[in-house]
Amino acid sequence: MKHLFAMGAGAVAALALGAGLALAAPEPDPMTALAGRPAGADPLDPMTALMARPDEGTGGEGNAELGGLPEGPGAEDTFYQCVACHSTEIIKQQRVTDHRWDELWTWMVERQGMAEPDEETKKVILTYLKTYFSSER
Ligand code: HEC
Repeated sequence: MKHLFAMGAGAVAALALGAGLALAAPEPDPMTALAGRPAGADPLDPMTALMARPDEGTGGEGNAELGGLPEGPGAEDTFYQCVACHSTEIIKQQRVTDHRWDELWTWMVERQGMAEPDEETKKVILTYLKTYFSSER
């Protein structure tokens, strides 16, 4: 029994070694080509276009530090209130009425257990949402 077990372990080790060798084969690694180059330095590098440039915001792109929420009064409050449970993406894709934002707020509190902040903060956040993610303006 002991002997059999040892053989089994040997076979596993051989398999692992085989896999290791396969991984070590000189596959062309795209990261190797990019390694050592300053990110975004090459205008022909497709990654350049994807790089975030928080200091050169064109407006509309939002604040990268706030999950891409547009700058504005209440952006920070909204970020901290809402990302406790989900990303800002779910917010950014909304274009709904003021009434719907009120409903969503209530739904988040009553059904999802969102902790409600003080009245002032609630007002600030709802005003922010209704300003930037509205179907009415
Ligand atoms: C306590 C957790 C929690 C917090 C905090 C929270 N949400 Fe949500 N929210 C959820 C859950 C859970 C869903 C459903 C997610 C899903 O469908 O995967 C959701 C969904 C949503 C949706 C999509 C609703 C729809 O019609 O599908 C929106 C918009 C939204 N949240 C906005 C917010 C905003 C704005 C805040 C901050 C004011 C917030 N949420 C804070 C839990 C939360």
